[in-house]
Amino acid sequence: MAASVRDVAVAAGVSVGTVSNVINRPEKVAPATVERVMAAINELGFVRNDAARQLRAGSSRSIGMIVLDAGNPFFAAVARGAEARADQDHLSVLLGNSDEDAGRESAYLDLFREQRVNGVLITPASGATENISRLHDAGIPVILVDHEIAGSAFCSVSVDDVEGGHLAAEHLLEQGRRRLAFVGGPSSIAQVAHRLEGARRAVAEVPGATLEVIEMPALTVLNGRAAGEGIVARPPELRPDAVFAANDLLAVGLVQGLTILGGLRVPEDIALIGYDDIDFASATVVPLSSVRQPAEEIGHTAVELLLKTIADPEGDYERRVRFRPQLVVRESSGG
Ligand code: RIB
Repeated sequence: MAASVRDVAVAAGVSVGTVSNVINRPEKVAPATVERVMAAINELGFVRNDAARQLRAGSSRSIGMIVLDAGNPFFAAVARGAEARADQDHLSVLLGNSDEDAGRESAYLDLFREQRVNGVLITPASGATENISRLHDAGIPVILVDHEIAGSAFCSVSVDDVEGGHLAAEHLLEQGRRRLAFVGGPSSIAQVAHRLEGARRAVAEVPGATLEVIEMPALTVLNGRAAGEGIVARPPELRPDAVFAANDLLAVGLVQGLTILGGLRVPEDIALIGYDDIDFASATVVPLSSVRQPAEEIGHTAVELLLKTIADPEGDYERRVRFRPQLVVRESSGG
């Protein structure tokens, strides 16, 4: 394993900070100490991490961040948390929106490489891992946000979406609902697939309960409204008695489609729960129950992890941070 800053510090009998100063600001260190540290560097064959040097030298005071959908308040909150942590180290966050398109994602990654960002936070577009590997191979640290790639070396900060999906469906079942529907987006979006898996597990635990899947083209308010209108158009006996929406934007649209346009009552006729607990979930005409993701904390933690991987690549810290989702019950599910 390559020698780390910490190994050099131990060998020279100095702190990690002194090693960093010898690398970046040798004029500030006693000559005898510089000599000792350089001897340790040569002896251990330590290769300094250019991103760390850039970060300390201030050559590129920025972090790249790519989100799946800049129009989703969840990602805006994640970006806000990332900025708050980056600000503490006088770093800027350059924000890009992939709109779940691998081509857009690749263009932003090329731009971030040209801009010599110190690292990249990314929620990958479905199945686009080759873009990220290129960046990683170019020596630019990558932190996966709201997503992890099993078996990969990538650091990540995410939420257990299978547990979150289970929480949502279990809550509807506990309200006595038995004909559940999952309104989601393309199952190629890992977060959607994991939530559905969790819901399936919860339904399987209740005899007689059923779960149908209504897949929409995208996780938007308009698609939620269309899903609601589709449910209303069915004969009453063929409608679900509860809906789990893969995210709050779909749920907001479902409330419109089911009630304002469809004349049904939520939760009396159909209970509803969303996912993310975005700021205005509580402000909808029927306040939304949801599964909360700690969005700002996710962003803050992702930058924290990025800075650790730059300063101490071999350090002893958690590289896959996984938060637990939290059920938030409001009127839309009978709370
Ligand atoms: O981008 C789709 C969804 O995945 C978002 O609403 C958020 O829940 C993310 O985890």
